[in-house]
Amino acid sequence: MTSLLPYPPELRAVGPVDAPFVPTIPVADLPAGAMRRVTFGDLDVLLAHTSLGIAAVDDRCPHMAAPLSIGELDGCVVACPLHRGTFDLETGEPATMPTTGGLWPDGTYEPVWCPPGQEPKVDPPGKKTDARRLTRIRRFRYYPLRIVDGVIEVAVPG
Ligand code: FES
Repeated sequence: MTSLLPYPPELRAVGPVDAPFVPTIPVADLPAGAMRRVTFGDLDVLLAHTSLGIAAVDDRCPHMAAPLSIGELDGCVVACPLHRGTFDLETGEPATMPTTGGLWPDGTYEPVWCPPGQEPKVDPPGKKTDARRLTRIRRFRYYPLRIVDGVIEVAVPG
């Protein structure tokens, strides 16, 4: 039987607690290790079949909103196709800071990545540098899920 990934209750996606469940895809179309985007109006949701079960989160990187559904899933960790950030679907936390640097969810600053042994690149002062420095990575927010008659259903805000 396919399991659903438990997630920290405080990381439930914003929306009414009685949001309706909407059918998406057959669970058979999301084998272990697979990711798929499903769209509801202007909301893109990532379905990920992790090693601990299926999860549903926004299909937007918690860094700068790239689609995670075209990234890579390894166990419970999804790698973004941009900036090499990785994000843990088990905990909701980022695992690897994107190469651009920026702020962890708790506000701790991390500089732009540089190869080991090299001097960090000095960015010219300006709004682009400020934007990278002040971009705070989010924790994932999870949409409630269930499987009914072999179909994955997601509770999405109306
Ligand atoms: S947009 Fe995903 S790591 Fe930057």
